Amino acid sequence: MATRKAKKAKSKTKAAKAKAKATTKAAAKKTAKKVVKLKSKARARKAVAKAVPANGLPKPSARPWGQDGKALDGVKVLDFTHVQSGPTCTQLLGYMGADCIKVERPGVGDITRGQLRDVKGQDSLYFTMLNGNKRSITIDSKNPKGKEILERLIKHCDVLVENFAPGALDRMGLTWDYIHKTNPRMIVASVKGFGPGPYEDCKVYENVAQCAGGTASTTGFRDGPPLVTGAQIGDSGTGLHLAFGIVCALHQRQRTGRGQKVLCAMQDGVLNLARVKLRDQQRLAHGPLTEYSQYGEGIPFGKAVPRAGNDSGGGQPGWILKCKGWETDPDAYIYFITQAPVWGPICDLIGKPEWKTDPDYATPPARLPRLRHIFDTIEEWTKTMTKFEVMEKCNAVDIPVGPILSMKEIAEEPSLRDTGTVVEVDHPGRGKYLTVGNPVKMSDSITEVKRSPVLGEHTEEILTKVLGYSAKELEEIKASGAITAPEKPAKAEAA
Ligand SMILES: CC(C)(COP(=O)(O)OP(=O)(O)OC[C@H]1O[C@@H](n2cnc3c(N)ncnc32)[C@H](O)[C@@H]1OP(=O)(O)O)[C@@H](O)C(=O)NCCC(=O)NCCS
Repeated sequence: MATRKAKKAKSKTKAAKAKAKATTKAAAKKTAKKVVKLKSKARARKAVAKAVPANGLPKPSARPWGQDGKALDGVKVLDFTHVQSGPTCTQLLGYMGADCIKVERPGVGDITRGQLRDVKGQDSLYFTMLNGNKRSITIDSKNPKGKEILERLIKHCDVLVENFAPGALDRMGLTWDYIHKTNPRMIVASVKGFGPGPYEDCKVYENVAQCAGGTASTTGFRDGPPLVTGAQIGDSGTGLHLAFGIVCALHQRQRTGRGQKVLCAMQDGVLNLARVKLRDQQRLAHGPLTEYSQYGEGIPFGKAVPRAGNDSGGGQPGWILKCKGWETDPDAYIYFITQAPVWGPICDLIGKPEWKTDPDYATPPARLPRLRHIFDTIEEWTKTMTKFEVMEKCNAVDIPVGPILSMKEIAEEPSLRDTGTVVEVDHPGRGKYLTVGNPVKMSDSITEVKRSPVLGEHTEEILTKVLGYSAKELEEIKASGAITAPEKPAKAEAA
């Protein structure tokens, strides 16, 4: 408990502080008055310049990290996407805080709602895992009232994202000219299969893009057919590219005040991800690709980049090696990289210390013709341990290795849950499911992963609260058939 003396001293200090504050205030007032009197135009400009940092940015926020909104707060997205490529893009924008209003056909919705269904009558994982952090409104874009609603949405939003077949948006009457006239600030972002050229009118799915983008011809084993990869580089990869384009267009709009068209062709997106193979195509003109194992095996190269199995795409040779249990576990393998700087530790670990000085093995060029033999020898060592034991031993001496993780292992990996990369969300229809959270982590824009909406869940909310329709107008809209399924609804493709 404070003593009376201490209390007195405290109140004295308080009084002194108040007095000092008042004096300072008065003095400041006086000075301010003085400054106002003397301030010339040039001085006033200087004062303003001092108040606003030179780069034009506002003062740094004083709120704690992650508690001052999200990166794309305030960005309104008219999400006209379906299947995978477009939804990947808008889900990412949603993760970053954009308000994504997904427009779907009444009674049908995004076709993926009904594709590859695992729970009868419920939205598929295909849909739910690509459409989190969005609101769903059903609008028949070919109904006159539906067109009117879309016009309001165009005026309201900053970005329209679509990945319809070429020409479909125009056929709805939503041409670039119309959109730009209606809202000059609108950014219109599209995924198409091909850019302008001979194939521009083609419909394209993932594997078509992988083949046309050059990856299938370079994936697989030399003596086998071309292969597609399980990573959806055509769909999700292009969606990522589009999101980047949109954010850039939003930034440019701050300067120009106008929107623009953003186009990502899936063929271009795939090629961008496969640029190392176009690199190799050009290197081929100057001689064999010495890091490809076919070089070591004495097999001549043809005119185009060959399939290279599990060869590393970079300058450090690597291969997939068996680990303990490989006879029964299809994923008991590890990717092993014989990185040159750690060649010594590799030799010691696998029990071949003599290779450190043997001229046939000591340098990277000497090793190139005998990579097969080297990896076979390393494999004899990796086969004695589980992939995780190999990883532990190698990481201890900085040897880069990658255990082949199954999707089961990924789904159960606690560290991926901790970082929000794998997230469990609850859905009113299908219950809990796993999704991939935001793979981009930002210190001041923390992602909250929200479940996907059910079809038309937010139709009334968006019409009234976002677009300002009255209750009477809402009834008219309902009667018009613009937001409800036709009598005999077209069926989404079943699993
Ligand atoms: C993916 C793709 C092949 C699917 O083709 P599809 O199922 O035939 O779908 P479309 O894009 O052609 O659209 C189908 C129709 O639905 C209509 N539609 C879509 N939403 C609608 C709505 N809300 N109200 C009324 N009609 C609607 C479109 O107007 C179109 O009609 P139209 O052809 O008579 O003009 C095609 O959209 C495509 O090539 N997209 C670009 C590339 C791409 O993104 N591919 C990867 C997908 S993961």
